[in-house]
Amino acid sequence: MTISQLFDVHEWHIIESTFDANRHKIAESIFSIGNGHMGQRANFEETYSGKTLSGNYIGGVFYPDKTRVGWWKNGYPDYFAKVLNAPNWIGIDIYINREKCDLAKVAFISFKRVLNMKEGTLHKTCEVELANKIRLLLSSTRFVSMHMVEVGAIEYCITPLNADCSIQIESYINSDVHNEDANYNDQFWESVSQNYSNNGAVAVDRTKKTQYDVPQFTVATGMHNQFFIQNKKQSGISTFSKKGLRIIEKAELKLQQQQTCKIIKIATQVSSLNHEEKTIEQAAYTVLEKAVETGYKQLLKNHIAIWADKWKLCDITIKGDTKAQQGIRFNIFQLQQTYTGNDSRLNIGPKGFTGEKYGGSTHWDTEAFCLSFYLATSPETVAKNLLLYRYKQLDRAIKNAEKLGFSNGAALYPMVTMTGDECHNEWEITFEEIHRNGAIAYAIYNYVNYTGDKSYLVEYGLEVLIAIARFWTQRVTLSPTKRKYMILGVTGPNEYENNVNNNWYTNYFARWCLQYTLETISWVKRVANQEFTELSHRIAFDENYEVIRWTDIIKNMYLPEDVTYDIILQQDGYLDKDLSTVHDIPANQRPINQHWSWDRILRSCYIKQADVVQGLYVFESDFDIETITRNFNFYEARCVHESSLSPCIHSVVASKIGNADKAYELYLRTARLDLDDYNKEAHEGLHITSMAGTWLAIVQGFAGLRWNQYGLSLNPQIPKHWKSFSFKIIYRGALITITIKAKKATILLESGFVSHITVCNQKYSLQVGSELHINLQ
Ligand code: BGC
Repeated sequence: MTISQLFDVHEWHIIESTFDANRHKIAESIFSIGNGHMGQRANFEETYSGKTLSGNYIGGVFYPDKTRVGWWKNGYPDYFAKVLNAPNWIGIDIYINREKCDLAKVAFISFKRVLNMKEGTLHKTCEVELANKIRLLLSSTRFVSMHMVEVGAIEYCITPLNADCSIQIESYINSDVHNEDANYNDQFWESVSQNYSNNGAVAVDRTKKTQYDVPQFTVATGMHNQFFIQNKKQSGISTFSKKGLRIIEKAELKLQQQQTCKIIKIATQVSSLNHEEKTIEQAAYTVLEKAVETGYKQLLKNHIAIWADKWKLCDITIKGDTKAQQGIRFNIFQLQQTYTGNDSRLNIGPKGFTGEKYGGSTHWDTEAFCLSFYLATSPETVAKNLLLYRYKQLDRAIKNAEKLGFSNGAALYPMVTMTGDECHNEWEITFEEIHRNGAIAYAIYNYVNYTGDKSYLVEYGLEVLIAIARFWTQRVTLSPTKRKYMILGVTGPNEYENNVNNNWYTNYFARWCLQYTLETISWVKRVANQEFTELSHRIAFDENYEVIRWTDIIKNMYLPEDVTYDIILQQDGYLDKDLSTVHDIPANQRPINQHWSWDRILRSCYIKQADVVQGLYVFESDFDIETITRNFNFYEARCVHESSLSPCIHSVVASKIGNADKAYELYLRTARLDLDDYNKEAHEGLHITSMAGTWLAIVQGFAGLRWNQYGLSLNPQIPKHWKSFSFKIIYRGALITITIKAKKATILLESGFVSHITVCNQKYSLQVGSELHINLQ
């Protein structure tokens, strides 16, 4: 499939060189900026009356939007937690000789928008002509600070190019914001106050009260503007006013042709997540004052310095393929600005801070796709906070399970959540896509294996594992005829099948969870017996009964397989389908979810996303290479990859089985999915969680990096036309750089201690500062 390129290729920048109104919403997503605590789409500062999706979001601040379904089913969640489009601080309206500059109505003489991924800044420069024939040069630089995470700033410049003119500037905060995806078109915010003083203006807004047991949020948005002509600060030229839900700071000035007026707008957004509600306005003024005192230049410098530190740890360099280089940096950049890991109440929404879709809530994506990225590229606490997020929601996961009829402390973690409550409103997923419990348990295993932090198991992990094990124990059914444990009525990762029996991935994962919980119990009993006894009392753990039952389920779990094709069976009855392959689908009917009826999709053999292959990816070491290859070939031929989370996993497995061409083809699909708008949906926001999959495809796929209780291993290969690729990992406090060329791998332990690494099945010792060179076949 040929994919058209939307933006210019550059190693560190995303560049849009012409303005295209049809591409504007896509660009608004692609050029999004964030700092883990808040983030925003690349909406214009100026009025733009054309098609736009206005988006400014604050991590953890959500609204419980009443569930809307056609037919209510008992057990449904009451609300869908939506990431909120928050009051907006970027607005700067300009009027030239009384004519408003509306970027949807001007003629663009030139246009350039640049996302500088190295520095985390968004730039726009354009020359425009208004209806009154005045030509203007407009430029802006914007960032949300990585250093002061409640602060954002804009440097905005206007230069009239062909005439002297009078200019009116209205810099504002807008509290009149909506979510496009509101279920009942409700307004989610109510205005509490709008005040201004010599130190700027602050709007306080609160989410509306609902009947649900979730917090209301209050957000204070502040701005401080400074005006300059030819870099000379202008004092006393502005006044404040209010218009509807806007607070406006207005300045009127005269500019001669070629003179430049600059506005430095420093803004803050503080929320009741981190501040007392009663004094939140003052909190906004305090942050604002500190940011203004620091000054725009220093704020920017501090911000760039943090990005530089981040890149030192997480960058991947690719030589010989600039498109691939841009693709991977774009993915890493978006992941880093979505989640920074210093607040265990925050998580990684599938769209991050780039759009409303998916409610902005946490999915299994975090554990199944993102965790390894953060484990390997950030200090240990970052991944730990992702785990603690789930630990803190254990009570609600137990309540979710109770609501569905489970008992004895069984936990069913939600498919989609903000608080731990289930928010997904489709029964096939809410009630049936229970494999997410497996990913959450596996994340504990993955974290402990990678970091060696086994104390996590004692303090938090075991409690979660037991609650999950209790769920599986009650969810299985002992078939009276087969004398095997079945898991009936489920949806596997492949959401193009619902209500199936014995989805292999789910059954295999359930069995693994029980096994791992048993192993963890015996380890914790050995090393921390007192803590184990305390936990047992607290959760009424009946060791004798529960362990016997789990052991029986482990021994007798039903795992469907087929002898004719010699494959694992995705679920009971899968082979009764018409077993065509993706090549049999006419190109004009792809993606099938946009062309076929739902029932046709359900009846077909086509697979939305990695399912059996997802299981083989996770449990690779349980299978020989022939089994993995046979199953990969069978299921890849039937997988339409209509979830962004799919090609990356198939790519890793393709690398594993030595199918380099396939691995690269699937890698391309994941790496530039949004940049090239492969799925024609980038206008809604980016696929943030699948971006971690791109990292997996390179690091676990091409480099073949694995970690287990024996340490690290590599099995490298390199896509044909790449000259080299290189990445760093932080492993147990050590920093390691790995560089792969066609015939050579170079490993450098830069700091810390790691005794050895296994490369292509051979063990090598590592010493700080000395490069290890290994010839590859
Ligand atoms: C996928 C899910 C995923 C969700 C959010 C869906 O299309 O099928 O596996 O959790 O998107 O990324």
